[in-house]
Amino acid sequence: MQRRDVLLCVNIDHIATVRQARGGTEPDPVHGAVLCEQHGADGITVHLREDRRHIQDRDVRLLKEVVRGKFNLEMALSEEIMRIALETVPHQVTIVPEKRQELTTEGGLDVKAHADAISKAVIRFHEKNVLVSLFIEPDLEAVEISKHTGADFIEFHTGTYCNAFGSPLEKSELARLYNAAEKAVAIGLRVNAGHGLNTENVIPILGMKGLEELNIGHSIVSRAIFKGLPAVVREMKDVIRHFTHAGAV
Ligand code: PXP
Repeated sequence: MQRRDVLLCVNIDHIATVRQARGGTEPDPVHGAVLCEQHGADGITVHLREDRRHIQDRDVRLLKEVVRGKFNLEMALSEEIMRIALETVPHQVTIVPEKRQELTTEGGLDVKAHADAISKAVIRFHEKNVLVSLFIEPDLEAVEISKHTGADFIEFHTGTYCNAFGSPLEKSELARLYNAAEKAVAIGLRVNAGHGLNTENVIPILGMKGLEELNIGHSIVSRAIFKGLPAVVREMKDVIRHFTHAGAV
């Protein structure tokens, strides 16, 4: 049987990070979302953090209008963000842990400690036909508990595997992901993955059973800077040269 393509949802948080560095309007992550989809992305992912360090409420509202493929909203289980997510009605929410001081989402959700709250959130989102995904470590118990919450998807945190990539630990971290994916599929959970993936370490990940979607952000935005720099430096040089010689100054 031929396997379906694995979908790519581009996480555009770091376009917003650059915008927030100046507090202005450029670069607009909504424009970034349009470009990603025009060039093959199957969907767009953003994380509306409680501290609003990158994505803003206005981005979420506009993305809901603009995104043509899947719109996946990452969120912590806070009442304020829940309210915004329930008003926005994205295609999918991915529930993630959130700590104020972290640089990025560190580790998966503690589904055991928060099982009740997650189950209640799942019911509220399902009433609005929003799919729910839980961002978890590739851990068999976490997979089982996730199923009990009623969530549709689990997204495996690939960060530890990515950190181990190219080291002697790579094989065992990959095995952990493969085993957890087997279990998820066996009990009827759908499988996504993400965090720290790039064009090299993603290749073994594609062998995971049942994998439907990858959420990739940092490596895409990083590579975009270097792929884009030659053209924009040439553009600026051309403007300087042209207007110097044209006598506009
Ligand atoms: N999936 C989730 C749940 C995340 O929190 C993140 C980071 O925001 C990603 C995927 C994407 O990770 P990266 O930016 O390292 O590709």
